[in-house]
Amino acid sequence: MVGMADAARAAMVGRQRDIEVVAAALAAGRSVLLEGPPGTGKTTLLRALASGAGVPLVLVEGNAELSPSRLVGHHDPSRVLSEGYGPDNFVPGPLLEAMTAGGLLYVEELNRVPEETLNVLLGVLSERRVHVPRVGEVEAAPTFRMVAAMNPYDAVGTGRISPALYDRSCRVAVGYQSRQEEEAVVARRSGGAPALVARAVRAVRATREHPDLRIGSSVRGAIDLVAVAGELHALRRATATTFDAATGHAAAATGHAAAATGHAAAAAAAGEDSGLDAALAALSGRVTVREGSSRSAEEIVTEIWERSAPDPEDVTGDDATGDNDAEGDQAGGAEGQQPGEDPGKAPGPGRPPARTTPAGAREAATPAR
Ligand SMILES: Nc1ncnc2c1ncn2[C@@H]1O[C@H](COP(=O)(O)OP(=O)(O)OP(=O)(O)O)[C@@H](O)[C@H]1O
Ligand SMILES: [Mg+2]
Repeated sequence: MVGMADAARAAMVGRQRDIEVVAAALAAGRSVLLEGPPGTGKTTLLRALASGAGVPLVLVEGNAELSPSRLVGHHDPSRVLSEGYGPDNFVPGPLLEAMTAGGLLYVEELNRVPEETLNVLLGVLSERRVHVPRVGEVEAAPTFRMVAAMNPYDAVGTGRISPALYDRSCRVAVGYQSRQEEEAVVARRSGGAPALVARAVRAVRATREHPDLRIGSSVRGAIDLVAVAGELHALRRATATTFDAATGHAAAATGHAAAATGHAAAAAAAGEDSGLDAALAALSGRVTVREGSSRSAEEIVTEIWERSAPDPEDVTGDDATGDNDAEGDQAGGAEGQQPGEDPGKAPGPGRPPARTTPAGAREAATPAR
């Protein structure tokens, strides 16, 4: 169990408590229901736990097409026609694969799984065995475990999961991490400059609290934002330089005066453009506009990105972020750390003004079923 937890600690930023509880439940032979919004590290956690335990992770995406035969396995129809039913032409599904190999079966979006397939899983949780027609009883190897994940904000809801299934599992609810932890995740995944990473995380966290948005972005949005902004900035700089060499009018020709002229303000403007374009690309499809709002996702993301700009007064001359990548600064703006800032809520300069968020909005961090 220590090996499992250690592997997960190495793979993850934070989540210490969740790692320990899930590792302990699995070590105790229990199955786990993980509830949390997309992008909260559920798959990362389970991959690391499985590798730390030295067992295979068998991943199944839960959806309406996941029939019992897809989950358990089926006889190859063409071979059945020529050979008849036999153990040789049985193709095991992910459930049997995990049960026989003593692996960790991970069913994502469990609440989308059809009722009859849920019943198969329920049987396996109770008996640690499954009856396969024309194959017989299949027993689970001792290390077999099941973990299922659900998104509590899924339109399907978690109400479909029967009390019997809950009664045979331990439940762990995971929420969004703190601002600092999200910054560390984004830095690790994107390798972006600290100032850009900080701004991207601020923008993403603002999408979760914006009154016109029903669903905000996961940390994946910030990871993509930083990655795209970096590439976009480099691409535009290269384009501007090429034009410059060819015509001597790079600035006017491309509309990206910054890189060509080296003028600091213009460079910042070009960086701001790249940042906004990256924010639109990374976030507009990830957010869901609240019904009844007359605004588009693009408008809202633009507003959020502009408001996420650091206040110039926050920026200290010696670069409080320790950022040594000037390009990233241009795309993201610089920001000094704000000790004690309440993640995502601080009405600091340049950020969305304080709002009385509707009761329950903050509960995003601790999804309830
Ligand atoms: N605590 C964390 N430590 C390290 N990486 C993280 C953490 N949380 C999220 N990530 C990163 O964020 C991305 C999304 O994480 P992951 O795929 O594990 O989320 P998930 O909860 O499985 O999402 P979904 O519900 O959409 O399947 C990945 O790139 C992952 O590496
Ligand atoms: Mg996942």
